[in-house]
Amino acid sequence: MKAIVCNEFGPIETLTLEERPDPVPGAGEILIEIHAAGVNFPDGLMVRGEYQVKPPRPFTPGSEVAGIVRALGEDVARFAVGDRVVALPGIGGFAEQVVAQAGRALKLPDGMDFETASGFMLVYGTSLHGLADCGRLQAGETLLVLGAAGGVGLAAVEIGRAMGARVIAAASSDEKLALVKAHGAEIGINYTTADLKTELKRIAPGGVDVVYDPVGGALTEAAVRGLAWGGRLLVVGFAAGEIPKLPLNLLLLREGEAKGVFWGTWTAREPAAHAAAVKRLFDWVASGDLKPHVYGAYPLERTGEALAEVMGRRAQGKVVLVPAR
Ligand SMILES: NC(=O)c1ccc[n+]([C@@H]2O[C@H](COP(=O)([O-])OP(=O)(O)OC[C@H]3O[C@@H](n4cnc5c(N)ncnc54)[C@H](OP(=O)(O)O)[C@@H]3O)[C@@H](O)[C@H]2O)c1
Repeated sequence: MKAIVCNEFGPIETLTLEERPDPVPGAGEILIEIHAAGVNFPDGLMVRGEYQVKPPRPFTPGSEVAGIVRALGEDVARFAVGDRVVALPGIGGFAEQVVAQAGRALKLPDGMDFETASGFMLVYGTSLHGLADCGRLQAGETLLVLGAAGGVGLAAVEIGRAMGARVIAAASSDEKLALVKAHGAEIGINYTTADLKTELKRIAPGGVDVVYDPVGGALTEAAVRGLAWGGRLLVVGFAAGEIPKLPLNLLLLREGEAKGVFWGTWTAREPAAHAAAVKRLFDWVASGDLKPHVYGAYPLERTGEALAEVMGRRAQGKVVLVPAR
């Protein structure tokens, strides 16, 4: 099979497309013929050796796929050959086939196409877990989403809206803000042309109840200064590249909370809650409350380009890879 290979940690440009042996499922595993693979920010960090998970080299990146089950390992009863699935293999997804733990895969609803599905579970799963479990977001509350046109950001905008919150979306361009408004944000803040702290004071003088922050850097403190009494900061990621340091008096003065969100580990620790959350998400897609946005679909040969769109701040919503068939 064809697979993208990272022979050593380094720039995305060092990835190569190679011929590799077809994978064989072991006990508890399924072999998936990949029809689409989601491109996620952590995939790029992993290639650069900057992610908390550092696989032995060589490895094939790609943490999220959608496709068809082609073979079953021993002791797999939940799936049959021919099932349409989404799976989180961790690595190996930027290829024509991958082996995944059956417990890290779910059957796809009939109405969901592979491209949409491959970019769905990680970002929508993270944002639902963040907003509902970690942030305890309630209907009628105000939610601020930073990096709102990115993968997890756009998912948080849609989920926040579906949960009945008033959503303020913040992003770096008016074009990105137009997209997030089309996906349910009530108000947009362009933090390239306006000061986030000043704008928040004007738009939400009483403060925002939840801040969803996948960006970090200087924006985090500005957002925390806009928290309401009892407000919650959700620490999701640091796409800006800088892990912010926060004056804790800002939390004391508001009885505020800062809460980490680590979806991947949570899904492994709480598989039943994860399955229930995914069902809730699929139901929202079926009812039209969520409309996942695929920004671009690239062939495997153009994986570097696809990753560069995500890491270079240009992508809106999801970028996916589609192996040729
Ligand atoms: N905690 C978890 O469980 C979890 C799960 C998934 C992802 N994450 C993390 O969440 C973050 C976002 O992931 P994602 O998949 O949504 O990525 P993404 O689609 O690339 O979105 C990231 C957003 O961050 C903003 N950004 C600001 N400065 C940036 C910079 N220097 N480079 C790139 N983007 C920058 C961009 O929005 P503007 O241009 O509008 O500023 C961009 O849209 C990553 O750090 C990722 O590792 C965490």
